[in-house]
Amino acid sequence: MRTFFYIGLFIITGIATAYFVGFQSQTGFTSEYDDDQEKLKDAIVIKVSHVVSENTPKGKAIRRFKALVEKNTKGKVKVEIYPNGSLYSDISEWNALKNNNVQMIIPATSKVSAYVPEYSVFDLPFAFNSYKDVQRAFEGNIGDILLKKVEKQENVKGITFWYNGFKQITNSQRPLIRPVDFNRLHFRTMPGEVIKDQYQRMGAAVSHLPFNKTYENLEVGFIDGQENTISNIYSKKLYDHQSYLTVSNHSYLGYVVLMNEDFWGDLPEEYRVEIEEAMNQTTEWIRRHSIEINDDHMRELKRNTDLEVHILLNSEKEKWMKKLAPLYEEYEDEIGKEIMKEIYKRNGRP
Ligand code: LMR
Repeated sequence: MRTFFYIGLFIITGIATAYFVGFQSQTGFTSEYDDDQEKLKDAIVIKVSHVVSENTPKGKAIRRFKALVEKNTKGKVKVEIYPNGSLYSDISEWNALKNNNVQMIIPATSKVSAYVPEYSVFDLPFAFNSYKDVQRAFEGNIGDILLKKVEKQENVKGITFWYNGFKQITNSQRPLIRPVDFNRLHFRTMPGEVIKDQYQRMGAAVSHLPFNKTYENLEVGFIDGQENTISNIYSKKLYDHQSYLTVSNHSYLGYVVLMNEDFWGDLPEEYRVEIEEAMNQTTEWIRRHSIEINDDHMRELKRNTDLEVHILLNSEKEKWMKKLAPLYEEYEDEIGKEIMKEIYKRNGRP
């Protein structure tokens, strides 16, 4: 009799537990319910590919943009970010955009110069001598010309320009102070004929390696050095196998924000307005904060590395410029008379 009682109790407890657990999970009282994927089904998704770390001006700006877009459209437009070249490398992202595999990329202007040569204006040594100069270019006539030019490329919509910083040079061999110090060194640079020509005129060789292959090529000593902004050098530890840093500010690394044109054209008007508003706010943010992020990273570099830092003096810069001045005339036709006129107006002819 007692045995029956215990068996009965066991069965009833089992049924009650099963019912209770089932009921709880159905109503979602005990486990957190994640509706992210469900919303995704109905949402418009902007996939963004970029190659830098998340703690850089571009990495931080794109996350701000995402937050603003998703808030302003109440989640109807989602932004999916793929940083560090995790989806496409800097070499493949251009075609990925054109094929609508991603809807937005933010390449450095130098990388776009492979398709639109006018973009190499930012690679001309010492063409921009202050952040104000760069802002005037991005927001003025030069920026307008460049956005129109990039839109001649099939399925590419030029949105705006984003800021990072001036480029500096590291290497493992010796301090780079005079042009002759570059002799026989090998550097990783971004693509761009002006950049290559610049190093060759100083007696160095150049390999256009993808950004995310720079560290390993410095590590194995395939290259002696590289040029980049301080935020990229710091965040990717490009200083690890280097001994010298020259703060040369020789040219500016900024970005052009590009969208897939068909995708942009198909967006409902109300979302386009919200995206534009989010973009304006983010552009304003990166303009104000890019300098401070690079300055912070410079302080970290000085504090945490053994790099020997040389800040190029004006008298030394003049010697570099003497060597590099012929580049201006050489690339005048490619960059275009109208853009060059703006540069000469500001700086005079070198
Ligand atoms: C580089 O390749 O060095 C840079 O373009 C990376 C970036 O996007 O800032």
